[in-house]
Amino acid sequence: MKLYDLDLARGLLLAPLSGYTSWPMRVLSRRFGAELCYTEMISAEGLLRNTRNTLSLLRRPLEDSPLVAQIFTPSPGYAAPAARIIEDQGFDGIDINMGCPVKKVVSKGAGAALMRDLPLARSVADAVVNAVRIPVSVKMRAGWDSGTINAVELAAALEKTGVHCLILHPRTRTAMYKGTPQWDLFTALRQSVSIPMVASGDIRTVPDLERLRTLGCDAFMVGRSAVGRPWVFRELSGGSGPSVGERRDIMLEHLDMLGVLYGRDKAAAFMKKFVSGYVRGLEGASIFRSHACAALSYEDLKGMIKTLPAGPVSVIKE
Ligand SMILES: Cc1cc2nc3c(=O)[nH]c(=O)nc-3n(C[C@H](O)[C@H](O)[C@H](O)COP(=O)(O)O)c2cc1C
Repeated sequence: MKLYDLDLARGLLLAPLSGYTSWPMRVLSRRFGAELCYTEMISAEGLLRNTRNTLSLLRRPLEDSPLVAQIFTPSPGYAAPAARIIEDQGFDGIDINMGCPVKKVVSKGAGAALMRDLPLARSVADAVVNAVRIPVSVKMRAGWDSGTINAVELAAALEKTGVHCLILHPRTRTAMYKGTPQWDLFTALRQSVSIPMVASGDIRTVPDLERLRTLGCDAFMVGRSAVGRPWVFRELSGGSGPSVGERRDIMLEHLDMLGVLYGRDKAAAFMKKFVSGYVRGLEGASIFRSHACAALSYEDLKGMIKTLPAGPVSVIKE
């Protein structure tokens, strides 16, 4: 299938996860079968102000490709020049965040707050589509709350602006990340727009993909299930889970890459967010987790990871 002018065999994408999907997680996910990745959300305003933290989100090694940059802003006036910067930096596409539920973002009118103002949402998309030649997508939610489900209405408006594809996480802003997603929205969306439709939300297994395919979804975005489990993409492609030795080697590599990106001190703290996922289901996981969280330095954490056995040990549950 074609997405952002790219030929994708399976349509397996790594979701943008702020605070997680910097290039080390992206590079590892690609190795196991993620065909396309997204940056964490990037403030359009921050990009225009050249703030250090914002610019660091655009950094990536050569092998971290193809890559879509995601921006958030409530302003068409910021969106257009930010999109041009992204295009100049060689990204494969631009995604506009219309789904972020966090207070810091919605209080400024960005993220999911755009779903409360469809004319503004449409203007932001319009500004970006007209500013660049690379494909533009929008990632959205079901709506703001259960009384205002308007994803289908927004999708129809966005299609008219020339947006190339839509990514839907079918929960409302108020539901945040909990409760059952409203899967039937994919059917409704499929009936009202003809551009590609990407599913996001609770995707973990091959049957999940099959179910979403029957609802008309063209591609599948995996987020939380890939945190400390980059091999989820291999499993979703019909392949095997990892041995303990493989988990250990990937963890060591992940830590090394984080060291390159953030420096050793920050890398150890950052890696602790992934440890739980990496050891989930292994015998002794909870002891390992608590020891790893107490590790005082990069070297300590590395030494601890090296104590995981190289051969397969019993996996209690996955
Ligand atoms: C910690 C965290 C950070 C996230 N950051 C972003 C983000 O930067 N941009 C975005 O569009 N969605 C973001 N999301 C939403 C995910 O991309 C995804 O739509 C959602 O988590 C549902 O998919 P999942 O069940 O596969 O995680 C974030 C979610 C989480 C839990």
